[in-house]
Amino acid sequence: MSVKDLMREPLKGFQIYTAGGMMVNPGPGIVKLNANENQMGPSPKALEAMEKELTSCNFYPMQSIANLKKKISEYIDMPVSCITAFNGSGAGIQAVAEAFLNPDDELLICSPTYMQYYRLPAQFGAKLVEVTSEDGVSIDLDALSAGITDKTKLIFICNPNNPTGTLLCPDKLSKFIDDLPDHVVCVIDEAYIDWVADESYPSMISKVLCGKNVIVLRTFSKIYGLAGARCGYAVASEEIISCLSAISGIFGTNRIAAAGATAALGDTEFYKAAKDNNTEQRAYISKELEKLGCTVVPSATSFIYFAPHCDTKECMSYLESKGVYIRYFTEEYIRVSIGLPMQNQKFLDVIAAYLEQYSEKDKAV
Ligand SMILES: Cc1ncc(COP(=O)(O)O)c(C=O)c1O
Repeated sequence: MSVKDLMREPLKGFQIYTAGGMMVNPGPGIVKLNANENQMGPSPKALEAMEKELTSCNFYPMQSIANLKKKISEYIDMPVSCITAFNGSGAGIQAVAEAFLNPDDELLICSPTYMQYYRLPAQFGAKLVEVTSEDGVSIDLDALSAGITDKTKLIFICNPNNPTGTLLCPDKLSKFIDDLPDHVVCVIDEAYIDWVADESYPSMISKVLCGKNVIVLRTFSKIYGLAGARCGYAVASEEIISCLSAISGIFGTNRIAAAGATAALGDTEFYKAAKDNNTEQRAYISKELEKLGCTVVPSATSFIYFAPHCDTKECMSYLESKGVYIRYFTEEYIRVSIGLPMQNQKFLDVIAAYLEQYSEKDKAV
């Protein structure tokens, strides 16, 4: 008997998941645009707070987490009792599944969406139910509504969506939440909401106290540049937060990450600089890719999902041979994260060179 035989039944066939695609160390000559990381680095205020916190690492993190929750509560204007922190919002996604999924329950998503959701149902003997939209890239709320059955337990909606970058109409999303039956828990994953250019675009945090089973997930990995520190949080009713507490471990996150995240929330200068760079570069890269003949899905996020109309696997290999790492999705679509202007330019120059070669080859055939 191997130790694998001792694993829980649904986990036995599991494949290891590498977050962020190919593992590559950023460094000279390497442009790493494959994991939607913030290339501006961590917020300087977060960095300072984390360095200071190091000397207190002999103490458990209760007080740092309490400080973080208080800061988040002020930031989103919600009671502390409606907030819980995680070791990254990915841990929050896992916690939701662990808290709510029974064997034979259904987890409903609109594809394509964030990879992690796909892996959850099988871990619990539950069933993945996928719907799709007509355009193949946006989240279709009508299709999701039609996909709800008596067995639906969880719905995951990533807004804006990863990997496609599309954004939902907030009124429609709000109505979708209002119409949910009581046996459904709906997660709105707002990992990328900070990148939405329209400052008035609303978070679904406002729906948390409306009596529906809704959980909003947020992360410090993206605009705050703290992906390696691991900190995210959930906002939900007190009752849901207590359900999540049943399995989310004693602390949720660590002292260093909590201190960094608390300081990052106060670093409005860094937040603005990151957002301005992203908004400007997103428009630039989108326009340049279109000039190269690519089909670009309009993005509200820190990445661009596009169809280069070539052999996407070969295109990726070419980019990698030149030190540029982006993310493969399908034979049609690949995704590039938005970086600093010089990194983006290198990506554009290399993909332009590849597409030129490709079209020459095409002509020769
Ligand atoms: C949509 C979405 N949700 C959640 C996560 C997890 O983020 P983290 O665990 O770093 O907070 C990611 C990471 O890329 C993501 O794209």
